[in-house]
Amino acid sequence: MACIRPHTYEDINVLLEFTRSEGWGFSEIDCRATMMVDPEGLLVAEDDTGKPVGFIGCFNMVPDIMYVNLFIVRKDMRGKGIGRKLWNAMLETAGNKIVVLDSVSEMKEWYKKQGLVYEEFTVKGYKGKIANVESDISGDSSYICEPLTNEHLPALLVYDQKIYPYSREKVLRAWYFGSDKYSFVALCDNKIVGYASCHMKSKNECIIRALYADNDIIADKLLVKLLSYIPKGTMIGFVILDDKPLPKYFADFVKTGTEFRLLMKEMPGIQTDKMIINAAHTV
Ligand SMILES: CC(C)(COP(=O)(O)OP(=O)(O)OC[C@H]1O[C@@H](n2cnc3c(N)ncnc32)[C@H](O)[C@@H]1OP(=O)(O)O)[C@@H](O)C(=O)NCCC(=O)NCCS
Repeated sequence: MACIRPHTYEDINVLLEFTRSEGWGFSEIDCRATMMVDPEGLLVAEDDTGKPVGFIGCFNMVPDIMYVNLFIVRKDMRGKGIGRKLWNAMLETAGNKIVVLDSVSEMKEWYKKQGLVYEEFTVKGYKGKIANVESDISGDSSYICEPLTNEHLPALLVYDQKIYPYSREKVLRAWYFGSDKYSFVALCDNKIVGYASCHMKSKNECIIRALYADNDIIADKLLVKLLSYIPKGTMIGFVILDDKPLPKYFADFVKTGTEFRLLMKEMPGIQTDKMIINAAHTV
C-alpha cells in the first residue's frame, strides 16, 4: 500500500508526466511558480520502490487558506485507495486552514461530500488558434497598456485587493513577473485599471493566466496587447468566468470543460466583476 511523503526534486518530472497525460493545462512555468509560493506543499504517494504513484498539492498561497490542486493518481493505480490516502494527508496538513480547490465536473459531488460545500464561481475552459487580431477600439487613448515591471508591484497589489479579500503578493510575484511571462498593466491617469498575463506552455502552446479589467474597453486593449506577443498558429488555452462573454477573438475556440471553485468554509468573497480570465492553479 502506498506511503505518503513530501516531494523531492526528482518527483517533479513524474508529476508533469501525469498532468500531461491527463491533458491538464499545468505548465512547467505553473509548476515553478507553485513551488516558489510554497516549496513544501506537494505531497507524494509512493509505491514499495519509492516511485511516485500519486500527488496532491496542499499549497499555502495566502495566510489561512490552503489551495488544493494536482490531485492525481497514475492511471493504472486508480480505484485502489491511493487518492483517499492523499486526501486524508492533505486534511491533516490543512489543520484549521480553509481548503479551496477548483473541481472538474466529474468530482464535484464527491468534493461536496468531503465538506467543500461552498461554491464561489464557475469557469469554462477554452482552447484554439487565433486567425486575426483586430481591435475595434484601437484608437481609444484613454488607457495605456505597458509591460508589468517591479515598479508596478505596489499599485498592482492595491488593484488586486479590490478583487481578492487578501494579499496575493506571493502569487502575483510567482505567476506574473519574470522573463518567461508576458504581463501587462492597463493605466488610466497613472492608476492601474487592469492587468493581464500569459506564458508559453510549450513551443506551440500558450496559456492566458489572467485578464482583470475595470471595463470591456480595458479588457480588449489588454487582450490585443497579449495576443500581439503570441506567435500566429499557437494553440491558446484559458479559463474564463462563466458569466463573462467570450471575447470575439476566441469565437471559434473549443470548450474544454467546466470547473467549480469550492471552499470548505465560508469566507469573505472574491469580487468577480473585474475578473474575466482567472489563473487556474492559484487562489
Ligand atoms: C481523483 C483521483 C485522484 C482519485 O484517486 P484514486 O486513487 O482513484 O481514489 P481512491 O481509489 O482512493 O478513491 C477515493 C474516492 O474518490 C472517489 N473517486 C475516485 N475517482 C473518482 C471520479 N472519477 N469521480 C468521482 N469520484 C471519484 C472514489 O469513489 C472514492 O470515494 P470514497 O472514498 O468516498 O469511497 C484519481 O481518480 C485521478 O487521478 N483522477 C484524474 C485526475 C482528476 O480528475 N483529479 C481531480 C481534479 S479536481
